Amino acid sequence: MTLHHPHATPLLPDAQTVTFVQHWTDRLFSFRVTRPKSLRFRSGEFVMIGLLGDNGKPLLRAYSIASPAWDEELEFYSIKVPDGPLTSKLQHIKVGDQIILRPKPVGTLVHDALLPGRRIWFLATGTGLAPFASLMREPETYEKYDTVIMMHTCREVAELEYGRQLVESLKDDPLIGEMVEGKLLYYPTTTREPSAHMGRITDNITSGKVFADLNLPPMDPEEDRAMICGSLAFNHDVKAVLEKFGLREGANSEPLEYVVEKAFVGDGI
Ligand code: FAD
Ligand code: A2P
Repeated sequence: MTLHHPHATPLLPDAQTVTFVQHWTDRLFSFRVTRPKSLRFRSGEFVMIGLLGDNGKPLLRAYSIASPAWDEELEFYSIKVPDGPLTSKLQHIKVGDQIILRPKPVGTLVHDALLPGRRIWFLATGTGLAPFASLMREPETYEKYDTVIMMHTCREVAELEYGRQLVESLKDDPLIGEMVEGKLLYYPTTTREPSAHMGRITDNITSGKVFADLNLPPMDPEEDRAMICGSLAFNHDVKAVLEKFGLREGANSEPLEYVVEKAFVGDGI
């Protein structure tokens, strides 16, 4: 998997070195890589990363940066698609290996794309958590909002673990530990295995269950902002739910009440 010997001069201008790898399930892992000194990004954005393909050409895919903009390294949270061109190989990376990282961050899940508000809802399924792993560690999130609600839904409990540990670690974080206190409301749910909270994000919002459980008022376009990241079907259905509350889709060029980004292209595996 190593593009070349880790201590040799990089063969590729965009090579970065893997510093940490953790496997969460047979379908999920996270890893950290060195950060190019010149790379500036806004928490929530994504970049193209990959490996050299068998044909010697870069095989690149879009990945949300899961670490916040202030971090010295870059973190990613990845699916393992058994026959996926990139992740069938990427899942085998080890510390010291190199990956390709094109340093051109882009994306809509950024604070600039929303009007000011009181509460912000982060709504994610599966690896759609990644941009929020960045934004939950971003001080601006807590400076801009009184309340931050992280709803993350997966089929099974084990798939929530990366997010659960990340949220758990925030209160001990020297930079944002105090900011997070009492502001971040974490609402993980499963749909195909019993857990403390269950059900789809769409159902838990539509039924009012999440508002009741967290002691929050129903969504109000004056006060609530939202960011969505999941499959195409999820994004589509959540948008419809938010629009019923009167929230409108914004963009970098026109900030409004919610923004959305695909967690991946395709129907899922
Ligand atoms: P591909 O040929 O790219 O995908 C094969 C099939 O696997 C897809 O058609 C789809 O059905 C399924 N699939 C792909 N990615 C996922 C996924 N993440 N979850 C569930 N099913 C999936 N992936 C990440 O793992 N982490 C990220 O942070 C991330 N951020 C992305 C941001 C954007 C804006 C976009 C468009 C995609 C993002 N992806 C992310 C998906 C990523 O680009 C690749 O699709 C993924 O790494 C699989 O690559 P592959 O070459 O192995 O398979
Ligand atoms: P469910 O188990 O009821 O399908 P997937 O693994 O298929 O991408 O789904 C990840 C999570 O997102 C699952 O918990 C799934 O619930 C949920 N989900 C999938 N599609 C939608 C949708 N259109 N609206 C809301 N939740 C969805």
